Amino acid sequence: MIDGKPKIVLTRRWPEVVETRMAELGEVVLNASDEPFSERDLEVALATADVVCPTVTDALPAGLFEGEIRTGLLANFGVGFNHIDIAAASEAGVQVSNTPGVLTEATAEIALTLLLMSARRTGEGERHVRSGSWTGWRPTHMLSTQVTGKTLGVVGMGRIGIHFARQAHHGLGMRIVYHSRSPLAAQVADELGAERLELDELLARADFVSLHCPATPETRHLIDARALSRMPRHAHLINTARGDIVDEAALVEALREGVIAGAGLDVYAAEPELAPGLAALPQVVLLPHMGSGTVETREAMGLCALENVAAFLADRPLPNPVNQ
Ligand code: DGY
Repeated sequence: MIDGKPKIVLTRRWPEVVETRMAELGEVVLNASDEPFSERDLEVALATADVVCPTVTDALPAGLFEGEIRTGLLANFGVGFNHIDIAAASEAGVQVSNTPGVLTEATAEIALTLLLMSARRTGEGERHVRSGSWTGWRPTHMLSTQVTGKTLGVVGMGRIGIHFARQAHHGLGMRIVYHSRSPLAAQVADELGAERLELDELLARADFVSLHCPATPETRHLIDARALSRMPRHAHLINTARGDIVDEAALVEALREGVIAGAGLDVYAAEPELAPGLAALPQVVLLPHMGSGTVETREAMGLCALENVAAFLADRPLPNPVNQ
């Protein structure tokens, strides 16, 4: 049990409504500048706070858990937790929670946005109009690829993958193939007419490949030069999961050489840095990791993290444990 008022550190600004409610749970330390925490800031937070609430911008490798630790809970603001060394946290007696479920729809919407933008060249089109170089309609101007009726390959059929597949299948008449550790429930597979494939076959058959698997040592560079070379030349790659699932240097090369037609990316291996050469490619759509970035979803993520903090402080089981 914690003696006195628990100290809770939020490493970034959160939606105001959640910060206000969090302040009812203890002595909350806010990051007024909203600048990312340094390694030293995180070290101090772990040594002095009962609860630390990090985000994807906070790297928490094993070394950070070797010093003095007062923290009993890392309540991550986000579903992905590849920035936290979970084994080291567990070893140090630190529980970790995340925010699954509440960002499914918002992230799937951004995957759909990227798919449509990449296929229909809308980023290029918008730049064209804004730059004043548009000279008017003509039959052969800015031709792109129709999406309706094409094949979508979903890699990682968790909540977001399924939701995106539903949007694509029911909204755009897309055929769904998928690659996932476990098969879909029969009812969902039937609803989507979805076929489970080995990754190589999916890459060869899909017109659009969308990544929805977690970032783990096994999925690091899952999409490398070899995988890209399996895709048809007209194919597009969409990534709203994590940057290091893709070998970005290989992707830049594949786009330059016309190995695939385009890509839509919301996530990058070393955010906010981009791989050299990526930004210069017209056939790639680049968004700033905004998959979950709606007012509704960011509040829901904050409230979900808050529920985990409240449970921890009341000595109840966490609603969303990561390391138990
Ligand atoms: C998530 O929840 O994992 C988002 O990518 C933000 O971290």
